[in-house]
Amino acid sequence: MLTTTHPAEVPVYGRLQLQPERGAGSTVVGADGRRFLDLYGGHAVAVSGHCHPRVVAAIREQAERLLFYSNAVPLESRDRLFGLLAEMAPAPLDQAFLVNSGAETNDVALQLTRRVTGRRRVITFEGGFHGRTLATLAVSGIQRYRDLAEASGGQSILDLTVIAPWGRPEVLPALVDETIAAVIVEPIQGLAGAREVGADILRTLRRACDDAGAVLVFDEVQCGCGRTGAFTAAQSYGVTPDILTLAKGIAAGLPMGAVLLSPRIAKHVSQGDLGTTFGGGPIPCAAAAANLEVIRDQNLADRALHLERRLRQGLADLPAVTEITGRGLLLGLRLDRPARPVQLRLFERDILVGSATDPSVIRLLPPLVLTEDEVDTFVRRLHEALS
Ligand SMILES: Cc1ncc(COP(=O)(O)O)c(C=O)c1O
Repeated sequence: MLTTTHPAEVPVYGRLQLQPERGAGSTVVGADGRRFLDLYGGHAVAVSGHCHPRVVAAIREQAERLLFYSNAVPLESRDRLFGLLAEMAPAPLDQAFLVNSGAETNDVALQLTRRVTGRRRVITFEGGFHGRTLATLAVSGIQRYRDLAEASGGQSILDLTVIAPWGRPEVLPALVDETIAAVIVEPIQGLAGAREVGADILRTLRRACDDAGAVLVFDEVQCGCGRTGAFTAAQSYGVTPDILTLAKGIAAGLPMGAVLLSPRIAKHVSQGDLGTTFGGGPIPCAAAAANLEVIRDQNLADRALHLERRLRQGLADLPAVTEITGRGLLLGLRLDRPARPVQLRLFERDILVGSATDPSVIRLLPPLVLTEDEVDTFVRRLHEALS
C-alpha cells in the first residue's frame, strides 16, 4: 500500500495514489508500472514534456562540470539564459533577475513596484493567486489565503491591498489612482480555473497605470512559457507590462523563477538592492536555457494553439462540458456537475487532470508536446467518465 504522507512529513498536501517513477513526454509511469497521461503537467511545470532529452543532457553535462557557484561570479549557463529571455520575451522587458520559485518572483516584483513609485497600495484581482510568501498571500484575491496572511501577522500589507472585482471592467480606471503602486494580474487566472482577463481589460489596465504612474505586473508564473500560444501571455494579448514574472515551466522542473523588468523599473535597481544564494545557479540555468531552446525551436507555443483547437472540437458534442475557458494549453472545462468525482474517474482511467477553486471546473495544464492521439485519448476517456 502506498503511503501518501510519510509520518515524519508535515501533512500539508492531499495526495494521489500514484508514485511516479519515470516520465517521458506527456506520460508518467508509476512504481507499479501503471502509465498515466499527464494533463496536469506536474502542475504546469512540464512545458517541454517530462524529461525532454535536451534538457536532461544539459543538466547532466552541467552537473558533471560544476554543481553550484553563487552570483558572486559570472556563469556561462546563466548568461545564455539571460540572452534567451531577452530574445523571447516582449520588448522592452529585456532585463531579468533570477530566483527560485513563483512566489519569490512576485514578492520581488511587489517590493520593486513600491520602491520605484514610493507608493504602497497594490491592486489585485478577485480569484487571483500569487504565491505563499507573506507579501504574496496578502495580495491574493482568494479569501482563504488572505486569512493566512492575517493569521501570520501580515495585517499591515493586507491593509495596502485593493481587490478589484472580477467581471466589472468599468470600475477599474477609477481604482487605479495616484496612491496605487501597482496592479498585479494573472492574464489567465490559473487556480481560479483558467479564467482569461481578456485583452480589453489588460489594455484598460495598461492605460490606467500609465495615467496614474502605477506599475503593471503580469504574473505569468502559470500561464507563461509558451502555454498561451506565444512565449508570454503579454505577447498573446498584445499588452506589455512593466514587470513580468515567470516560474513553473521555465526550467522544466528545476526550481527557478525569473522577474523580467522594463528599463523604467530596472533603472532604479542597483547593486545590493536584490539578492539570493541559489537563484541563477548553474544547473537550473542550464536546464532553463535548454528548455527555452526546445520551446523556441519546436514552436511549442504554436502547438499549444493547434492542440487547443483539437480539444475544443473533440469536446464540442459533450453537453456535460458547459464551457471551455482559457487559451492554448491552460484550459478550464466547466462541467454541469461537481468536477472532483469526474477527476477521480479519469484517474481510474489513467488520466491526470487538475482542479480549481471553482468546484465545477477541471483544469488542463499539459505538456505542450502532447500528441494529437493523446488529445483524442483524453476526449474519449472524458466521454466515458461523464457517462
Ligand atoms: C499564478 C501563480 N503565481 C504564483 C504561484 C506560486 O508559485 P510557487 O508555487 O512556485 O511559489 C503560482 C503557483 O501555483 C501560480 O499559479
